[in-house]
Amino acid sequence: MRYRRMPIEVESPEQLGYDKIKYNLTESSFADMTFGDLGLDLNRLPLAYCDHRGKPELRELIAREGGLPSPHHILMTPGAAGALFIIATTLLEPDDHLLVVRPNYATNLETPRAIGCHVDFYDLKFEEGFDIDLDRLTRLLHPKTKYISITVPHNPTGTVLSEARLRAIIALAESRGLKLLVDETYREMTYGGPLPVAAALSPAAISVSSLSKTYGLPGIRMGWIACQDEALLETFLAAKEQIVICNSVIDEEIAWQFMRRKADWLPNIQKVIRNNFGIVRQWYAGQSELEWVEPRGGVVAFPRIKPALNLDVDRFYQILQDKHGTYVGPGHWFEMDRRFFRIGYGWPKPADLAAGLQAISAAVREAKA
Ligand SMILES: Cc1ncc(COP(=O)(O)O)c(C=O)c1O
Repeated sequence: MRYRRMPIEVESPEQLGYDKIKYNLTESSFADMTFGDLGLDLNRLPLAYCDHRGKPELRELIAREGGLPSPHHILMTPGAAGALFIIATTLLEPDDHLLVVRPNYATNLETPRAIGCHVDFYDLKFEEGFDIDLDRLTRLLHPKTKYISITVPHNPTGTVLSEARLRAIIALAESRGLKLLVDETYREMTYGGPLPVAAALSPAAISVSSLSKTYGLPGIRMGWIACQDEALLETFLAAKEQIVICNSVIDEEIAWQFMRRKADWLPNIQKVIRNNFGIVRQWYAGQSELEWVEPRGGVVAFPRIKPALNLDVDRFYQILQDKHGTYVGPGHWFEMDRRFFRIGYGWPKPADLAAGLQAISAAVREAKA
């Protein structure tokens, strides 16, 4: 394995220091909860190893909600990142091919690279609304392609595939005897209601999700893999056992206690997200230097400084950060032109979001001069 630190991690706000950022518009999650918010008493929790697949009640709940036939189809993992690592290292050998939609969350690109396999890219285009064209996807398949990797809702663009397109990509994977990895980390954050869990639709699909984004619980590092191919899930379990044996029993207990009372939190989370999205839309409508494909899910937008605008991009980021204390996710975090940047609007308080957006407009003006 050839590991390399990813820019999105090296330059992440937690590595930079939250105290150095006034308006943090980099986060792709809802505002972080505190332990106190959850009101849990864990004093009697035995700090023992736990079920290697994950807490049975938690898997049962996730399977039921996702329409999977059995809790045996769920494997709890250390975050969605852990799930993606397990999947890539299980399915890929150095000689294999992988077809990955780009831009994408960094782990979806970097772990396959670390394995040394051939990574083929389906590059999403702004001009095509960041949508996936089935014919183009099909043409990019190679005889040694092991799986296709997509993220829906998409990070960093916030676009959402139609259910018909998702089903068509699943059918393509089935017809070629491939697996389809669907990173569904933002699944419950859509304005048109969530798509079905892909793994519930076909044994060819592998779904990945976590408690990090929608619920603002990234610090407990709890994610999961859903997959009806039980033999494959058993191999994923073998990989997990070699990395961590089982998850942290504390993380699993918090995840379970949260998930069983999810209905207490979700309506408010969705309300806050919708409200913050309204602030972003209003700001976008009032400016003319940026263009975007309007997001339909996640808590991210991925605008671009118009190509015709004569502006020093490095200076834009420098002014934005140093003068205005505002941090966004620059395009290079996603292997995209730096004129693109990701705005995370679910995490900041409304007033900070509005101030950060005004700072972006000011930095564009000042970098033009
Ligand atoms: C699409 C996507 N997948 C996976 C992850 C990893 O999330 P976690 O490991 O916190 O569940 C992220 C984090 O930003 C993401 O955006």
